[in-house]
Amino acid sequence: MTASLTAQTLAAYERWAPLYPPTAHNPLMRAEQQVMARHWPRVAGRRALDLASGSGRYSRLLAAQAAQVVAMDFCVPMLRQVADAARVCGSMMQLPFADQTFDVVISGLALGHAANVHAWMAEVARVLKSGGAFLYSDFHPEAARVGLTRSFKDQKNDSCTVPHRSFDLESQREAAAAANLTIEVVHEVRVGVELLEPFPKSQEFYRRWHGLPIALVVRARK
Ligand SMILES: C[S@@+](CC[C@H](N)C(=O)[O-])C[C@H]1O[C@@H](n2cnc3c(N)ncnc32)[C@H](O)[C@@H]1O
Repeated sequence: MTASLTAQTLAAYERWAPLYPPTAHNPLMRAEQQVMARHWPRVAGRRALDLASGSGRYSRLLAAQAAQVVAMDFCVPMLRQVADAARVCGSMMQLPFADQTFDVVISGLALGHAANVHAWMAEVARVLKSGGAFLYSDFHPEAARVGLTRSFKDQKNDSCTVPHRSFDLESQREAAAAANLTIEVVHEVRVGVELLEPFPKSQEFYRRWHGLPIALVVRARK
């Protein structure tokens, strides 16, 4: 991802932040979060990182159990909304943490903003303790391939599309292996299977895309 693409991504999230509460606030997020919950690692008493936390949707869930939660994101207006964790502003491509700091890393819907999947996995593996768990989700590469986008309406009701980079499942597996992470779970969130909720004009969407994997949830262990 070029510097300008990173800048475009940041600008998009700065625009989205006022309308981005720390909850699963659209049907895709609700379906994705249910699947994340099914594969949630043991966090009780542990030190956890919410990587690319946004406004802290997963920080809140972690804070209910973990001993310590750090929320990290590069978007200050997102981080300002995080209430349940220590907040750190930084790049997920260069984590501002020492090696082996965390027992658990959770990352919701952010891999598609990484410049490089190998570097992203390597950074996560570096800050994870041995035996630590990594649970992440992303917009599915297949959904991006068929032309679906990550879009939102801003405060003026103007449409905005967030830049997204697709990493196919094979490259995610290779990056995990290279980072000494063992993949334990791969769960594809499918239209009409996990994503079922009606939304405006959704009938045509569900007819057209039935069975399409729209999000991906992966759990790995160091
Ligand atoms: C789709 S949002 C997901 C937020 C949160 N994880 C959730 O699931 O609700 C993606 C987040 O990634 C952050 N992000 C994107 N690129 C980043 C980068 N290079 N470093 C740190 N954060 C980044 C954005 O600011 C945004 O908050």
